[in-house]
Order: sequence, then structure tokens, then C-alpha cells
Amino acid sequence: MTDIRYDNRVAVITGAGGGLGKTYALELARRGAKIVVNDLGGKADGTGAGTSMADLVVNEIKAAGGQAVANYDSVSTPEGGEAVIKSAVDAFGGVDVVINNAGILRDKTFVKLTPEELAIVLDVHLRGAFYVSQPAFRVMKDKGYGRLLFTSSAAGIFGNFGQSNYGAAKMGLVGLMHVLAVEGAKYNIRCNAIAPTARTRMTEELLGPMAPLLDPESVTPLVVYLCSERCELTHEIFSVGGGRFARIFVGLTAGWMAEKGSKVSAEDVEAHVERIRDPEGYTIPTSITDELRILSKALRR
Ligand code: NAI
Repeated sequence: MTDIRYDNRVAVITGAGGGLGKTYALELARRGAKIVVNDLGGKADGTGAGTSMADLVVNEIKAAGGQAVANYDSVSTPEGGEAVIKSAVDAFGGVDVVINNAGILRDKTFVKLTPEELAIVLDVHLRGAFYVSQPAFRVMKDKGYGRLLFTSSAAGIFGNFGQSNYGAAKMGLVGLMHVLAVEGAKYNIRCNAIAPTARTRMTEELLGPMAPLLDPESVTPLVVYLCSERCELTHEIFSVGGGRFARIFVGLTAGWMAEKGSKVSAEDVEAHVERIRDPEGYTIPTSITDELRILSKALRR
């Protein structure tokens, strides 16, 4: 098996000044990629800013013989997103890989959540991924090559107490990934999402006794594979952490089709609810067209 290499590839990693993003930056650089280390340099709740987090990672990459530049813009504005991608184009002439990783937390139960706590979390995670990925997508489309990765979370995909803002943003990223996978297909732009579990400043108090087993470096190999030339996968979601790698998917059950021409009542739905929910024989549609094809087949029976 030959090594997966990133020679002549330019990778932008948002929030790469620490935690998971830093591990991606170091490993992609080690494999030959030119890296834009973006980080706002603030605290885990999104307050503050500084240059030292991104600078330290850039220095570490350079000390190991790699190539990297720092970018300190916040991903949470359209101007910031443009500036992140401009750093890549100015320093290295383009962008091949974007890892949307920057993130913050403002956990609060739903009844107590303020509009500000909703706005800042949506701005960094969800809008931030739009603002960085859109200018990158334009470059990738012209080149006919791109790899976009989105960082989702089990908190949104499966649900978690006190994270309505974060969970909604993280599931929104799955929707964005699905659409960009469809739009990017003909330009060789592959889009995937991960839901990681790792010990970082964001989670160190939440993971309890599992924390020592959840090194951020155990997430890195999947990210390196998904963003590589060798990986043709697109439109997929993976759960990753502590050495376990698994796929998460949005499936459609075979369901229940009412008798042709019959008028279905709420009671009919109730009577068939187990069949409607039964996962046996599910499919994984790859687009709305795919689901419409399944429905159209059922209608023609
Ligand atoms: P972290 O706090 O170490 O890393 C996040 C980085 O994003 C920080 O370096 C921070 O300075 C940067 N950042 C924050 N706001 C920014 C902005 N507006 N612009 C640019 N950079 C900004 O936390 P961690 O755990 O490494 O998180 C990375 C990603 O993984 C996040 O999106 C997080 O939501 C996600 N995630 C992490 C999980 C875990 O178990 N650690 C679980 C599920 C998702």
C-alpha cells in the first residue's frame, strides 16, 4: 500500500490553532500539503481573539519542513470567509481541500437560550461553513477538483440535552454537505461530513472517564483519507473517535403504500405505523431525485 500524499495540494483548515484542527494541519503538512492554518484564537465560547494559536501551528509545520501560512480571520462573516480563501490563493495559488472545523459552544437548555447564543453558534458553525466553502467551491469548480469536509456532531445527528443551537447548526451542516455533494459531483468536488469524538478543550470536562481514550489524533486518519485524491467517496457521514470508524446515514424505510385510490385516514396511519417505521429493506437516497424515483415507482404499481 503506497502512502496517501498531498504533494501540490493546498488545504485550508479552519479552527486549526488547536484541538482536532491542529492534528489535521500537522498530518496533511507532513504528507506534503501546503496549509492555511486559520484560527481566530479566542476562547471555547467564541469570546476573544489572538494570533498566537495559528502562529504556533504554522511554526511547528515549518520546523518539521512543511509549508504553511497563518490566517486569523473569523469564519463567521462573509468577508472573513473570503479572506480565509484569499490567503490560500495568495500564498499558494489555489485551494484543493477545505476542512470546515472551526467551532464554539454556548450550551443552554432550550427554554433559557438567548437569541445571541443562537446567533453566534449558527454564525460560526453553519454560516461560517457557507462563507468559507463558497469562495473555495468557485475555485474548485474552475479547476475541476475539490475536497470539502464538514464537521458535524452526534449532538445534532442524534440529539443532546442543552445543545439546541449547536445541534441545529451541526445538522444544518449535514444538509449543506448533501447539497454540495450533488452540486459538486460533475466538477469532481467531493463532500463529506464527520461526527468526531475527541478530548479537546471543548470536551475535556464532558467526556469523563472516557477522555484518556479519545485522543484527537485518532480522528485524523479518517480526515486525511476523506480529503485525499485517492478517496472518491462523497455525500457521506462518518462517526469517528477512539479508534472506531463507522458510517452514519440518512435512510428511507420501505414504508407502507396505501391502496390505490383509497382515502387514507389518521387511523389507517396509526394501524400501519410499525410498518412505516420498520427499517427492514431501507434505502439510502442520494438526492431528492432518487427519492422521487422511489415514490414514482410506488405510484405506478
Ligand atoms: P477546539 O475548541 O479545540 O477547536 C476549535 C477551534 O476553532 C479553536 O482553535 C478556535 O479558536 C477556533 N475558532 C472558534 N471560532 C472561530 C472562528 N469564528 N473563526 C475561526 N476559528 C474559530 O475544539 P475541537 O474539539 O477541536 O473542535 C473542532 C470541531 O469539532 C468543532 O467544529 C466542534 O464543534 C467539532 N466537534 C468536536 C467534538 C469533540 O469531541 N471534540 C465532538 C463533535 C464535534
